[in-house]
Amino acid sequence: MIDRFWSRRGKTSPQEADLPAGENVPQHVAIIMDGNGRWAQNRGLPRFAGHHSGMKAVKKVTMAADRAGVKYLTLYAFSTENWKRPKSEVDFLMRLPQEFLALELEELIENNVQVRMMGYQENLPSYTLEALEEAIEKTKDNTGLVLNFALNYGSRAEMVDAVRAIATDAVAGQLNPDDIDERLFAGRLFSSELPDPDLLIRTSGELRLSNFMLWQLAYSELWFTDVYWPAFTEELFQEAITEYQRRARRFGGLT
Ligand code: IPE
Ligand code: IPE
Ligand code: MG
Repeated sequence: MIDRFWSRRGKTSPQEADLPAGENVPQHVAIIMDGNGRWAQNRGLPRFAGHHSGMKAVKKVTMAADRAGVKYLTLYAFSTENWKRPKSEVDFLMRLPQEFLALELEELIENNVQVRMMGYQENLPSYTLEALEEAIEKTKDNTGLVLNFALNYGSRAEMVDAVRAIATDAVAGQLNPDDIDERLFAGRLFSSELPDPDLLIRTSGELRLSNFMLWQLAYSELWFTDVYWPAFTEELFQEAITEYQRRARRFGGLT
């Protein structure tokens, strides 16, 4: 089973022949995993059933990204605004990383995946944080796909904090305001060790960013689908990559 899902890059099994060509694969794909609640409600199920099924899509997409040759996969799992939801839903969501990693960490390790997280750790329950910290520690030397969970992440707060840190350094005389440039600013964000996303995917038909990586997505290609996150498939992921490969990125210049 593991082999079927995780067949390594470079192998040329018939299954892999269907994957997008190795050229121009986005290095960093970011996903706003949206629509869990509506997926469940459409089936007469409680919202949390959608969150639970969404976990399976996380696994599928992680495997698909690895097999396609993506280097970084960032998944928006919980925003700084999602605390507004009922406590019971928040509690359920906060249990998911632990459950996901209990099921999948071993296989992630076997497949050389490196787990990371970005977001505000302070407010996370200890069981959430500890599960992620264990995964991060156990995979820190892995050199394959980087699986980055955006958890309690909010882009505006991230940027305001960066500004505050820069201002504090400037006031302390450790930084000359003339030296503040895009590179320095980006270096103060949670994503300082990641390239900007090349491709952003959002599921569930919503056409907005919902406070996700506002700085980092400046020149990313955007791809939307009406499919709810729990119904997202490897085929759809490949469709997004293929579409990406057809786009002409100009960054303000000319092709
Ligand atoms: C995405 O699904 C998961 C999180 C935001 C945590 P939603 O829970 O937002 O599902 P919808 O958008 O209400 O259907
Ligand atoms: C964005 O989805 C956050 C995550 C997917 C984690 P939301 O469901 O919170 O976004 P809005 O409220 O529809 O903009
Ligand atoms: Mg939503």
